[in-house]
Amino acid sequence: MSPSANYQYILPDYNSRVFGMFGGQQKYEESIERLIEFAQIEPDSKVLELCCGTGIATKYIMRYSSNILGVELNPKLVTQARTHLPSYISILTQNGLNSGIKHKNKYDLILCVNGFHYFNPAEFYDLTSGLLAPEGKVVFNVKLGEYERNKPIHYQAYTAYFDALKELFTNYGLHLPSISGLSDRGFINSKFTEESFGDIIGDLYLNRKQINKVLIDNPEAKENYIGYWVQMIQELSLGFGFRPTKDNLYSVIKKHLSPLLEQEEVLAKAELFLEARSLRRAES
Ligand SMILES: C[S@@+](CC[C@H](N)C(=O)[O-])C[C@H]1O[C@@H](n2cnc3c(N)ncnc32)[C@H](O)[C@@H]1O
Repeated sequence: MSPSANYQYILPDYNSRVFGMFGGQQKYEESIERLIEFAQIEPDSKVLELCCGTGIATKYIMRYSSNILGVELNPKLVTQARTHLPSYISILTQNGLNSGIKHKNKYDLILCVNGFHYFNPAEFYDLTSGLLAPEGKVVFNVKLGEYERNKPIHYQAYTAYFDALKELFTNYGLHLPSISGLSDRGFINSKFTEESFGDIIGDLYLNRKQINKVLIDNPEAKENYIGYWVQMIQELSLGFGFRPTKDNLYSVIKKHLSPLLEQEEVLAKAELFLEARSLRRAES
């Protein structure tokens, strides 16, 4: 495969977008698999998966239990999940904070994979602690804004992205519009640090935690990461009515990103895996 051919296989959908951001599908799924291992799911325990998205984590949860209810806000992602998940996995298309699931069943395990940052933490703790069975646990991951004084590449990649955009707009004789309209809406900044989570978090107490890092540490992962930005700019350029060729786009974005990808190991994501249990259990 030629160095620029890789990104051409990236399809413009939700999965390919998140995969690219973390160096490709394998990298993305490896970190999910590690979280599912961390969860230590008992055979056939009753699992609620909040924010199940396209069902990537669900595939790994299914190795341990078939008793899974997924909840996902975005109907398009649920449709995608349904194409590959077996029919015995139920999925509700709704906001997890709505009362539909609130008082129904008590779950042995609530998993929220790559979803915590969408909630107000207090609401998340309240919702999940209220849904747990007496011995149940909540397992989720939290993206860290910084780890060991290192920020994930995405934080610095913005400068390279805007520089690449400037170059492309200039090449096409266009004026670069205001930066705010060009931001990467798929990326959510994180203010959390390892210290953000004490022993007691809302209605939960923290039982275990573990650090996990996703590293872009091989040429394929680096190409996949470049492919993420190529896809971003490609979609954006359609909106602005110019059509850079893929090779042109690729070489411009690669030139600007290369200094960030020089190191052998580039941090794509630092996250905390957390297991918490309900404090309400002690009261009942
Ligand atoms: C980053 S995706 C993660 C999807 C999947 N778990 C994964 O790891 O690939 C987060 C998902 O949370 C969903 N979401 C956000 N807030 C939600 C809510 N209040 N209730 C249900 N789903 C929600 C979004 O629609 C999105 O699909």
